[in-house]
Amino acid sequence: MKIIEGRAAGSPRCVLITGATGAIGGALALEYARAGTQILVLQGRDAARLRALGDACGAQGARAVTQVLDIRDHDALVAWLVAVSDAEMPDLVVVNAGVNINTGPNQRGEDWHGIQRLLDVNIKAAFATVQGVLPAMRKRRRGQIALISSLAAWRGLPETPSYCASKAAIKIYGEAMRMAMADEGIKFNVVMPGYVESQMCADMPGPKPFLWKPEKAARAIRRGLASNRARISFPMPLSVGCFLLSTIHPTASEWILKRLGYGA
Ligand SMILES: NC(=O)c1ccc[n+]([C@@H]2O[C@H](COP(=O)([O-])OP(=O)(O)OC[C@H]3O[C@@H](n4cnc5c(N)ncnc54)[C@H](OP(=O)(O)O)[C@@H]3O)[C@@H](O)[C@H]2O)c1
Repeated sequence: MKIIEGRAAGSPRCVLITGATGAIGGALALEYARAGTQILVLQGRDAARLRALGDACGAQGARAVTQVLDIRDHDALVAWLVAVSDAEMPDLVVVNAGVNINTGPNQRGEDWHGIQRLLDVNIKAAFATVQGVLPAMRKRRRGQIALISSLAAWRGLPETPSYCASKAAIKIYGEAMRMAMADEGIKFNVVMPGYVESQMCADMPGPKPFLWKPEKAARAIRRGLASNRARISFPMPLSVGCFLLSTIHPTASEWILKRLGYGA
């Protein structure tokens, strides 16, 4: 690893992560702390977990700034992001917080309150996060925003219709923003993980092929962001498979998904 001023080459000085108390967010925080990032701005709802993560990052030499916040309060989220952007000037923001819901036993169906909660977190709070940090980045004409989508964005799965739709929205938004902001020096990246061990993943019904550990996912994400890849998707076999499912006729993809055990 090439080291510049105690940081791995390409490692940002300050990284802000939403949903840092979760599996991928926590692994990302530690991954960046180990790579020499000096300041980690970490948001979550669980104060104790946030404190423990901040301490673990501190043990790696990073300074952690923690914020307990329910990101469904979009105005409070934006207000905090504007203030912390001024104070800490994050180079990289990882829009990671997310929830999943499913159709329940015997495909009973998603409930409206669950759908609203999911849209409030996965879409509205994600867009609000971008809105909160973008003005400071535009002023500096520098910055990077990683949007955590999912391979589920490629093709709707019968167990998780709203989740797949929300992640497709994030993918499309990120692709558009990457082009829209390129001339202003702001990088956007869409991250499309496959199955990664986490509470959310464990709660999800259906098969979970090629399950990765969060630490492995965090390494892949950091490497992809360091080289500013437009799309960071993994693991490779699932990534190719999901992409191909989106390119064939829906009747054909339905047939394949049923044989793989989805919608059983
Ligand atoms: N794991 C996978 O297989 C997988 C695959 C593809 C994409 N992803 C995406 O990766 C991201 C991270 O997921 P994960 O697997 O690490 O799940 P996770 O362990 O359940 O973490 C989710 C994070 O989001 C936070 N969050 C949820 N609702 C929130 C709210 N209202 N206010 C503030 N924070 C909230 C959680 O905080 P609390 O602990 O307080 O709820 C937690 O920190 C998500 O966007 C997910 O969609 C995951």
